[in-house]
Amino acid sequence: MLEVENLSKVYKSKKAVDGVNLYLDSGESIGLLGPNGAGKSTTISMMSTLIRPSDGDVRFKGKSILKQPDLVRPILGVVPQEIALYEELTAYENMKFFGRVYGLSGKKLDNKVEEVLELVGLKERKKEKIKGYSGGMKRRINIAVALMHQPELLIMDEPTVGIDPQSRNYILEMVRQLNQEKGMTVLYTSHYMEEVERLCDRIYIMDHGKVIASGTKDELKSILSGEETVLVEVQHKTNALANQIASLPSIQKVTEVEKGFKVIAPKGENIFTDVFRATEEAGVKLMGLHVQTPTLEDVFLHLTGRKLRD
Ligand SMILES: Nc1ncnc2c1ncn2[C@@H]1O[C@H](COP(=O)(O)OP(=O)(O)O)[C@@H](O)[C@H]1O
Ligand SMILES: [Mg+2]
Repeated sequence: MLEVENLSKVYKSKKAVDGVNLYLDSGESIGLLGPNGAGKSTTISMMSTLIRPSDGDVRFKGKSILKQPDLVRPILGVVPQEIALYEELTAYENMKFFGRVYGLSGKKLDNKVEEVLELVGLKERKKEKIKGYSGGMKRRINIAVALMHQPELLIMDEPTVGIDPQSRNYILEMVRQLNQEKGMTVLYTSHYMEEVERLCDRIYIMDHGKVIASGTKDELKSILSGEETVLVEVQHKTNALANQIASLPSIQKVTEVEKGFKVIAPKGENIFTDVFRATEEAGVKLMGLHVQTPTLEDVFLHLTGRKLRD
């Protein structure tokens, strides 16, 4: 459906996007995962013809959308990272306004407004002004306006940042439904790995403007097939212990987590004895050692040496 080839964007001396290749097949749900500043928003702005690339091309069904942006605009629904609604208008008025922008009118427009309000679960609140809405409700209407013209492809830029867990769940479930039950193609951008893991058929991991890995979640996790993630649970965390664990030759990476430390080590290494001795020497009580199945967070850590979230 959509093919991105060697896409780049340079701002002064900064390469925001640096030679990105990716594709979306019709009906797929694709995740773009990466930390803040990775180049996700810039990539999707170019894919949705909002900004012009410095280099590369985006093809929709084989044709360049740089030369013919009108090929893709009518079938795109874009949900921007920032809320783009009229605060002084009600949810209902916002949706009517954006529906008219997309060329709907009369009964068709009224029906569509009701249908989409139902979908985002805000039918009962439609007569309230946006400015009185919670962050999560604003997000839902922000998505609603992008759905007014029944897009084939829905592009969402971090739609769950800064909202309550209930709204977040609602949005995730809604996206799943649009993709799996209504057949809408979805490009979902996030720095939350649980979200792309839950929603997406394939995932592209971005960092510093580049795609550093891609595939299904199982394919991505198989990058770590030679390694093991172990949670070292301790009574209290100390820097001395973190340093001591990090310096163990059997251990590749250590990150601090809530209950202690997460370490990555090659499979087959017997790290248990080493970790046990390290905690003893640091005078810290060991509460448990648990081997964990790897997450996409671990994959990112493995590839970059950093965490997805700062
Ligand atoms: N208009 C712009 N001018 C200059 N630098 C920009 C501009 N837009 C984005 N950048 C920079 O490009 C990089 C990628 O940004 P962005 O695409 O917003 O990343 P993400 O969406 O993954 O957080 C960042 O370092 C950002 O500061
Ligand atoms: Mg962004």
